[in-house]
Amino acid sequence: MKLTLSVIKADIGSIGGHVAPSLELLETVGTYVGDRATGLLLDHYISHTGDDIAILMTHTRGVGDEQIHKLAWDAFLAGTAAARKQGLYGAGQDLLKDSFSGNVKGMGPAVAEMEIDERTSEPFLFFAADKTDPGAYNLPLYLAFADVMNTPGLILSPNIGRGFRFVIMDVNDTTGDRIIELNAPDELYDIAALLRDPERYVIESVWSRATGEQAVAVATSRLHNIAGKYTGKDDPVMLVRVQMNFPATGEVLAPYAIGHFVGGCMRGSHQMPLMPVTLNTGISYFDGPPIVSCAGFCVHNGKLTEPVDAFVQPFWNTVRDDVAQKAMEMRRQGFVGTAMLPMSELEYTGISEKLEALNKRFIVRKELPLLKPA
Ligand code: F6R
Ligand code: MG
Ligand code: MG
Repeated sequence: MKLTLSVIKADIGSIGGHVAPSLELLETVGTYVGDRATGLLLDHYISHTGDDIAILMTHTRGVGDEQIHKLAWDAFLAGTAAARKQGLYGAGQDLLKDSFSGNVKGMGPAVAEMEIDERTSEPFLFFAADKTDPGAYNLPLYLAFADVMNTPGLILSPNIGRGFRFVIMDVNDTTGDRIIELNAPDELYDIAALLRDPERYVIESVWSRATGEQAVAVATSRLHNIAGKYTGKDDPVMLVRVQMNFPATGEVLAPYAIGHFVGGCMRGSHQMPLMPVTLNTGISYFDGPPIVSCAGFCVHNGKLTEPVDAFVQPFWNTVRDDVAQKAMEMRRQGFVGTAMLPMSELEYTGISEKLEALNKRFIVRKELPLLKPA
């Protein structure tokens, strides 16, 4: 059957700063969606990662569907009212427009969707990251779908071996969706040349070259491009289909053992390592570290199994310890050099105003007269 997987997420308020939503907020969003699901959704699952609430939905209405997007938008509005009532911090933070206009894209919430031909068994992974931006998935996706050092399936399995097509977006372009399509392995170095800069070039989707099927959908919105000012990091969600014609679950998960440095963390303005965490984890050290959770599902006739927590297995405890060490090591460097993001990516404007004021106080020293030899 043709099935659509849609995940829409937003930060609409949290307890104790930007840490985690309240139970009441989660329940309000869940009840709102549950009450309106009949006739619209085949199934849904509500979760949070850090301060973001995600609504994962299955249905048959295709991607970008107005009713599906409106349901999520209205659920977030209902949640915002509950967040305001409780005095939660940042209530309604990601709802950047006053009225709904057909699609939540460009309105604040992040969206990842794909329409698929449901396989007899359809395993997929739902990733959610907090305190970082969509480029955080660049390296893990490159390794999983294009690097044989990570994914032996690329040489062991004939279908996977035909490679994958990457759709990459230039998220700095605010005039529209500026994209390029590149094939791995033929154009591997071109792909790498773009993915080197994860703040600008972001993988939007990945497709099987053997079957034409979509494997990955990433939410690529840039909040600061919508709002024109700091409104929090984009905290991206992602859907990845696994097994058979796609990399195995373990090949998709393996790159998260690196704890690679991503943009985000405190005030959305630092470089910190990405920590794989268990489902429904909050935020702590230095308003971070940036975290990523992963729920594995099988979906059958649109019905979801319960989630399996991909990062709860004991292996990941060692990774978390390593990432915590790496995070503290970087923090010893404070505000200097690579510890902070470059000027163009800083999420607060205070420093630009300061530099402008200081710029006026700079003087060019007069040339000293040349000393004559005695
Ligand atoms: C990062 C984040 C936090 C806040 C910080 C200051 O995405 O949400 O690091 O930037 O806690 O918050 P405000 O400016 O809201 O007091
Ligand atoms: Mg967040
Ligand atoms: Mg937030």
